[in-house]
Amino acid sequence: MVSNNMKKKRIGILTSGGDAPGMNAVIRAATRACISYGMEVKGIIRGYNGLLKKEFTDLDIRSVSEIINRGGTMIHTSRSKEFATEKGLERAAENCRDMGLDSLIVIGGDGSFRGACELSKRGIQCIGIPGTIDNDIPATDYTIGFDTAMNTAVEMVDKIRDTMTSHDRCSVIKVMGRECGNLAVGVGVATGATGIIIPEIKFDFEKDVIERIEFTKSTGKKHFIFIAAEGAEGVDNLHKRIEECTGINSIECVLGYVQRGGSPCAKDRITGSEMGESAARILKDNHKDSKMIIYKNGAVEDIDLKTGIEIKSKFDNRLYNLSYIISI
Ligand code: F6P
Repeated sequence: MVSNNMKKKRIGILTSGGDAPGMNAVIRAATRACISYGMEVKGIIRGYNGLLKKEFTDLDIRSVSEIINRGGTMIHTSRSKEFATEKGLERAAENCRDMGLDSLIVIGGDGSFRGACELSKRGIQCIGIPGTIDNDIPATDYTIGFDTAMNTAVEMVDKIRDTMTSHDRCSVIKVMGRECGNLAVGVGVATGATGIIIPEIKFDFEKDVIERIEFTKSTGKKHFIFIAAEGAEGVDNLHKRIEECTGINSIECVLGYVQRGGSPCAKDRITGSEMGESAARILKDNHKDSKMIIYKNGAVEDIDLKTGIEIKSKFDNRLYNLSYIISI
């Protein structure tokens, strides 16, 4: 219990970078847990831009009602160029002090965490919670939004497959993920794609595309799907090259922002809730260091923020290899 004359800790929450389904579940859990643990919460509007402008809203138990099932982020998000400058960082830290924020919960991806690390060097304790559909933060096995985005993309590819099959066509379907192939690999395996093209593994057009089409065609296959990560090299106009080489009518589909929207799946709601509460517990326990909440071997944990962002990516190619073996 917090005695009435003790000043309540004031926590700021912001979402930054690309939105991801499940961010609202994190906001809800972090807000309610902070309040339950005797703290008060301010929602910073539009990420680091809001911090620069001191734009915030009070978050209470009821203001985070009815959001667990909603995609996007109720406190909006942005990518802030100004924040990333020396002047911007100084002003953001100063504004945190002006607003009386004791700590900041930052929900976002690797860029947002680097920003949080810079703020913590300037005296602001930050707790990072991974929220991005890319699942590209090496320190954690999972980032909020990934599973929902993967399911959305799978649903879209299934629909595309119906029409590709009817017309005996080949499709190159581009999915998001920036420089990371995790989303593409998951979607490719789940949809039984003929091939998956990702930034982490260089592809050979003849061997990995043309020979695969020719081989599967010789076994009776009449339509072909390639899932390409947006960040992979050599995927622009791939459909045209395929058509030129094989004579098969080939099209390109860019799934785009549909992948970031929609109601979060149960996994993103549950893991988001666990991560939000975990951040609040760290703050309640009066830890002073900045931390990153991570998901490791099926459980939510925390590590030092700086250590977390320094962990380098090690691509796990098991699913990619699986696809190569069975998509024939
Ligand atoms: O990081 C999430 C993500 O959706 C990436 O997959 C994609 O490359 C990028 O954001 C798109 O960003 P923006 O919303 O700025 O176009």
